[in-house]
Amino acid sequence: MQGKEHLDFLRVTEAAALNASKWVGKGDRNSADNAACEGMRSTLGTLDMKGVIVIGEGERDEAPMLYIGEEVGTGNGPEVHIAVDPLEGTNLCANGTPNAIAVLAATVVGEGHLMHAPDCYMDKLVVGPECKGIVDITLPPRVNVRLMAKALGKDTDELIIGVLDRPRHTQLIHELRETGCRVHLISDGDVSVAIAVLDPDAGIDGLMGIGGAPEGVISAAAVLCYGGDMQAKLVFTSDEQRERAKRMGDGDIDRVFYTEDLARGHVMFAATGITSGDLLKGVSYHRGYVKTESIVMYSSTGSIRRIQTVHRTDP
Ligand code: FBP
Repeated sequence: MQGKEHLDFLRVTEAAALNASKWVGKGDRNSADNAACEGMRSTLGTLDMKGVIVIGEGERDEAPMLYIGEEVGTGNGPEVHIAVDPLEGTNLCANGTPNAIAVLAATVVGEGHLMHAPDCYMDKLVVGPECKGIVDITLPPRVNVRLMAKALGKDTDELIIGVLDRPRHTQLIHELRETGCRVHLISDGDVSVAIAVLDPDAGIDGLMGIGGAPEGVISAAAVLCYGGDMQAKLVFTSDEQRERAKRMGDGDIDRVFYTEDLARGHVMFAATGITSGDLLKGVSYHRGYVKTESIVMYSSTGSIRRIQTVHRTDP
């Protein structure tokens, strides 16, 4: 999956972002999500592949589009596993606030792997390449902060750590602030922030805390492409979730999952901004054209492309 195929998947996230952008700031989460799904699904349908959604909008009985197991593509070409989040940050899009993106990761079967994550939470620690192999999610956050500061050659009060602003993170935020580091609280959208951690220009040094497991696998694909480090633990809120995760058969469900448990081999990642944020500019409308900004990465070549596309509306 190289060269042209990169750009084909780029069309998919662009289509989702363009559709969702019509719903930015309108306070209507469902319409925004449906629009993004429709854009993503119809464009996936044009790609020459036997595609299967491995991370999607939910189980078949709860999601009409892009459900887990749905076959997408023309049916001609390689077997491809695809993890999608057509609208990552549904509230962000509905409220017109930063960091809503359309995102996917994909791999040709036999060339790479994306964990088929259960729909539960995941405790995540994401750092850039300089801190790879240095941090350890089983250590207290304050210890990881010190280790990160040393590896980055910074004082702890120069570090910025992204954390989802949730009551479950009260203790984590308190502990991080006690180290002196700066906490970047986000209302939603931990995929954008995970990728911003990997981008040396974005100014965020780490992501910590609990978010969605499916979003974690998609983030891991980007971490793999960038050569960063991700460590994670599944977090269950019910016995049913635990049982489901066991049935999905990925070994010990209570272990630490490292980047390559979540995403390994030849993996591609594409994201397009819907609202401007830490990672990407959002969709912008101009006389005669609409502009999108995307990031496309491929793990085997280590290429990370930022692509601005002008979509003419008066061709
Ligand atoms: P949605 O786009 O599906 O609403 O997810 C947004 C998000 O903030 C993710 O980025 C994050 O991983 C997850 O929700 C956190 O879940 P919760 O809102 O339940 O804490």
